[in-house]
Amino acid sequence: MRQNITNIIEKLSQFHNVTDNELLTLLKDALSEDENRLLCQRADECRKKIYGTDVYIRGLIEFSNYCINNCYYCGIRRENQNVKRYRLSKDEIIECCIQGYALGFRTFVLQSGEDPYYTDDILCYIIADIRTRFKDCAITLSIGERSKESYKAFFEVGANRYLLRHETASDSHYARLHPDELSLANRKKCLFDLKEIGYQVGAGFMVGSPYQTPEHLLADLRFLQELSPDMIGIGPFIHHADTPFANMPNGTLEMTLKLLSIIRLLFPDVLLPATTALGTIHKNGRELGLKAGANVVMPNLSPSGVRENYTLYDNKICTGEEAAACISCLSQRVQSAGYSLVTDIGNRRFI
Ligand code: 5AD
Ligand code: FES
Repeated sequence: MRQNITNIIEKLSQFHNVTDNELLTLLKDALSEDENRLLCQRADECRKKIYGTDVYIRGLIEFSNYCINNCYYCGIRRENQNVKRYRLSKDEIIECCIQGYALGFRTFVLQSGEDPYYTDDILCYIIADIRTRFKDCAITLSIGERSKESYKAFFEVGANRYLLRHETASDSHYARLHPDELSLANRKKCLFDLKEIGYQVGAGFMVGSPYQTPEHLLADLRFLQELSPDMIGIGPFIHHADTPFANMPNGTLEMTLKLLSIIRLLFPDVLLPATTALGTIHKNGRELGLKAGANVVMPNLSPSGVRENYTLYDNKICTGEEAAACISCLSQRVQSAGYSLVTDIGNRRFI
């Protein structure tokens, strides 16, 4: 093992500040097997100190795949004519929650494209109903950029968490992933608004997104330190055939695992999912993610009839599975990796 790499890993694990150059070295260099093992082991020790072997589950309800945006990487972008678009009604969403609750879910994540059909009033009506029925559950929204007033209205009727990946903390890189009408500045504003309102906030980015450099990743980590989110969602970029990035290479397992471990050590108590995208690029991706420091999984609770239409990237796993089948599959996978799924609201355990 190289002394400088080992030193950086140990410095990270002791929660000492690491310099930009040290982080860049870790991000740039291909680590040896031993170095990777050390990094992974330190991240796992850190997660176990705070979360033990618990793995939290979040039930993902993809309630609409309509989107007004045209992000270059995303399969449900508005210009993709090959998507069969759908919207779930309030009753269908509630049905997902009822099923999910019975299966042990205590967090529901309502995710959609940016779909103006769901006005603030409609969303408040849905959120308030879920809140009345499931008092012991967290309601997480993942519906993109809205005004601070809208975010406040959702919070007031019972939403308490919000996932909005920043995607990249570099303005120029942001502009290569998104059309002109979207800006990193507004994305950041949304994230800080959400925090100020009182949401538990999740940010994050894709690993290996087109044109991404180690310097961009460094900026992502530094931005996350500034934001200090409760959750950090990262997963590999996976191309989708009907997007402008159809021919771009996918992010790798190795790089994603390395980043999960670095993030665990930089943000010891953060909620860190082993994402579906990670499970898509490698058959044991999620298990490996858990071993590298992740402590959350987010199986799908959407009705199986619509799942295949919510395709952000090619070959997405679990699109044919019923929620119950998915949870038993996942539970086995989590156990085989040495952890256990828990029925818990799954709040961050502040250190
Ligand atoms: N590959 C991997 N992740 C993607 N996302 C969107 N498109 C892709 C893709 N092609 C991620 C984005 C978004 C989240 C919901 O899914 O980071 O914020
Ligand atoms: Fe969905 Fe395995 S987690 S089928």
